[in-house]
Amino acid sequence: MKISDIVNRQNPPQPWEEGEKIPWDEPDFSKRMLKEHLSQDHNAASRRFEVVHRQVDWLERLAGGLEKDLKVLDLACGPGLHSLDFARRGHSTYGIDFSPASIEWAQSQTEEQSLSSDFVHGDIRNAEFGTGYDLAILLFGEMNVFTAEDLSLIARKTRAALNTGGMLMLEPHEPGVIRANFETAPSWSAQESGLFSDRPHMLIDEGFWHDDVQMAVKRWYVVDSETNEVTNYSQTVVEHTKAELVKLIEAEGFTVSDAPGGWPAGNDDGSPEFYPLVAVAK
Ligand SMILES: C[S@@+](CC[C@H](N)C(=O)[O-])C[C@H]1O[C@@H](n2cnc3c(N)ncnc32)[C@H](O)[C@@H]1O
Repeated sequence: MKISDIVNRQNPPQPWEEGEKIPWDEPDFSKRMLKEHLSQDHNAASRRFEVVHRQVDWLERLAGGLEKDLKVLDLACGPGLHSLDFARRGHSTYGIDFSPASIEWAQSQTEEQSLSSDFVHGDIRNAEFGTGYDLAILLFGEMNVFTAEDLSLIARKTRAALNTGGMLMLEPHEPGVIRANFETAPSWSAQESGLFSDRPHMLIDEGFWHDDVQMAVKRWYVVDSETNEVTNYSQTVVEHTKAELVKLIEAEGFTVSDAPGGWPAGNDDGSPEFYPLVAVAK
């Protein structure tokens, strides 16, 4: 792409038109992102270890893990912080993610700590999940970046992987949060290096809200300062009402129940951005 492509861009971009999501699966991007996942300075990519630990306390209690060893499926697990915490408690876990650096790191931790966790590099839309799970988790609003068709597919595959009575824990965005976070005026910064590139570059971003379909589209342009080459990334985020979500998940063989209180979402400013939604496999 060239700088003239930025000037001549079509606004607003339509959902999914310029790509699905940020390039989690690109090797170099995933290495840079891994640093953010593991940073204990913020809760932006993964929660801090102490928040993950409290989330696993909550999940372990919910799924009956204080009474028996659990088999846990961690979907879009990132560096597997939840899986590793479960495994340190004696549960067995299987984590899937398409970020190569995250999966490599999770595997290295498994070996170093001699844990019963297993990780695989794959896309949860087509990876094999296995069977016999007591608990499956898809956390941190990641369900909101899939199309409704893909989300139904993931729910269907998860139902097939869970034991009857097993639980799927989803963590959707609270209503209004997607628009508030992703509808942003154009802005730019000059960076020596950053999440989107190791090289000096200019980063331009802007975000749009499509009220008719309740979706946000965020777009980034990375302009390399030496070559002037432009790379475009885009992410679509879908807002679902709770009623829509319940209908979509229940159609795949679950009963959605009210989650117990006290989910530690770990938001830095204290305002809840996500809520727990628990579906029990029928
Ligand atoms: C916000 S991070 C959350 C990671 C982890 N679940 C946590 O809570 O710490 C989202 C993760 O979803 C992964 N991801 C996104 N789409 C995916 C897909 N289709 N298949 C596998 N992983 C995916 C990304 O690579 C990234 O690691």
